Amino acid sequence: MTRIAPSLLSADFTRLAEQIAQSEAGGADWIHVDVMDGHFVPNITVGPLVVEAARRSTKLPLDVHLMMEDPDRFLAQFVSAGANWLTVHQETCPHLHRTVQQIRELGARPGVAINPATPVETLIDILPFVDLVLVMTVNPGFGGQSFIPECLSKVTRLARRLAEHGLTGVEIEVDGGIDSQTAPAAVAAGASVLVAGSAVFSHGSIPDNVQAIRRSLAVEV
Ligand code: DX5
Ligand code: ZN
Repeated sequence: MTRIAPSLLSADFTRLAEQIAQSEAGGADWIHVDVMDGHFVPNITVGPLVVEAARRSTKLPLDVHLMMEDPDRFLAQFVSAGANWLTVHQETCPHLHRTVQQIRELGARPGVAINPATPVETLIDILPFVDLVLVMTVNPGFGGQSFIPECLSKVTRLARRLAEHGLTGVEIEVDGGIDSQTAPAAVAAGASVLVAGSAVFSHGSIPDNVQAIRRSLAVEV
């Protein structure tokens, strides 16, 4: 089953609990929280405080995407705040194995993310240790950017590698420019988790927007 993870980046922060509840009403499976540090990416967003607020608003798994340098310093805080999934960027972690082991020891599910320019092959040796790979389909930093279709070849290659290694339980997540137009191709390539920010929160009805993405998956590509 494909999971849909609305990204709070595009939500109205004055009504966070309500917008999370509306996502849930539309059939959202996870809630995605984007943490940006102003160094690794040219934007600053939220930290453990908002993860903790989201935790009190929903029972859905919280999928926390750390777009930050030296994330090791904050892993424990994010897990205590209620993160179920904690994803770090390969580009920020020289000791990636240690970092993902630490996430697991803290009691969360570890994920690793790659930017559009980072080859998925750089992850081959970490695959047995992670529960999720996040293939960015835009350059991280902002919501509302255009989907980069070339990134889907990485999803295809990753899905093939995971199958070859018998690692079929590892989730493949895509993030950036996902909407009802792009979601079917991402799933066809092998994505199992779809992050969507502006497509869910930036216009119209939040439940309808989540459902529109879900319905798009029934259409053959
Ligand atoms: C981008 C973030 C995304 C962002 C996606 O750096 O990682 O999660 O919210 O936004 P959309 O879906 O609008 O591209
Ligand atoms: Zn994200």
